[in-house]
Parts: sequence; C-alpha cells; structure tokens
Amino acid sequence: MAQPQSQSSVSVTLAAGTHWICTCGQSQNYPHCDGGHKGTAFQPLALELTSTKTVEITP
Ligand code: FES
Repeated sequence: MAQPQSQSSVSVTLAAGTHWICTCGQSQNYPHCDGGHKGTAFQPLALELTSTKTVEITP
C-alpha cells in the first residue's frame, strides 16, 4: 500500500465552505490539494465548514 509523503502538522484558518485537504503529501500548497496526487492511489479529503475555523491538519 502506498504511503503519503511526509508533511508536518499545520494549523490553518479556513473560511466556511468546502476545502479539499491533501492526503498524499505531494501538494505544493499543503494542506490544500493542488492536484499533485494524480497518478497515485490517494484522493483529497473534503472538509466542509459552516463557519470560519482554525483547524489543525495532521498528516
Ligand atoms: S495533492 Fe495530495 S491529495 Fe491532492
């Protein structure tokens, strides 16, 4: 099974709405998916927020 590339935990403030979170670790805009997972078995994770929040993203 493929393993994601190593990334550090990050704390980000996100506005309400849907955010696509990188699970492969290859995004150049981590923690946001930038399409770098193409050609891998990974898919981004949809994070839906109803209000602005600061969240900790842990790979
Ligand atoms: S770039 Fe990592 S899941 Fe899309």
